[in-house]
Amino acid sequence: MSTVIEMKNICKSYQMGSESLKILKDVSLTVEKGEYVAILGPSGSGKSTLMNMIGCMDHFDSGEYFLNDIAIHDAKEKHLNRIRNQEIGFIFQKYHLIPTYTVLQNIVMPLLTRGETLAWATEECQETTKMLGLEDRLSHRPSELSGGQQQRVAIARALVGNPAILLADEPTGALDQQTGQEVLALFKKLNDLGNTIIMITHDLKVAEHADRIVRIIDGELFEDGMTA
Ligand SMILES: Nc1ncnc2c1ncn2[C@@H]1O[C@H](COP(=O)(O)OP(=O)(O)OP(=O)(O)O)[C@@H](O)[C@H]1O
Ligand SMILES: [Mg+2]
Repeated sequence: MSTVIEMKNICKSYQMGSESLKILKDVSLTVEKGEYVAILGPSGSGKSTLMNMIGCMDHFDSGEYFLNDIAIHDAKEKHLNRIRNQEIGFIFQKYHLIPTYTVLQNIVMPLLTRGETLAWATEECQETTKMLGLEDRLSHRPSELSGGQQQRVAIARALVGNPAILLADEPTGALDQQTGQEVLALFKKLNDLGNTIIMITHDLKVAEHADRIVRIIDGELFEDGMTA
């Protein structure tokens, strides 16, 4: 197996006035290629902060982070931009779709950002949109879709370009029970196809869909072991 993520003793504080708040405390996390990991923790425990670190969206104070053997702790901002765009597919809690864009335009956006042509990008996302049952919705705007469909668009956008990791922050948080189950079934399918998935949640029932649960409590990480 190859290692996709290796974090060693990551610390992160936020400065609040004269006080420094320690949010992540010596967090170490290893994720192998093809794993499906849930990061489970209560509100305020540091989940989104950790997601920002894994997704190379913010700097940490100390520690080492290798993403596909790239030393993130030493990487320059320009390099980090490329890594964010090419190595990671983000799925946000509230979809973050662009309302004035069509479904297709939303999905191809990361590919265009990295300089691909529209023709190539459109071709590239055909298979993904088909798998997600979006092929007859490509010219719709997000407001014309149900919540579950919007989340599927967000998932398609995260998947195109084949990122090393899918990083999802409460992907079912805004969905009803049945749609949430559909999204979880889809994650399972994607994982079966070989995608590495890191899913952040506060809900044990959701976390149990992953193969491995890691708990975050007050900024500290604990291995929970395998769910299966
Ligand atoms: N930019 C910031 N500046 C200062 N403090 C912050 C900042 N972002 C987060 N925090 C603090 O860090 C702690 C962890 O926040 P974080 O958003 O990571 O929690 P979370 O586990 O994702 O919570 P939730 O489940 O509610 O989304 C909280 O106490 C929060 O107030
Ligand atoms: Mg959060």
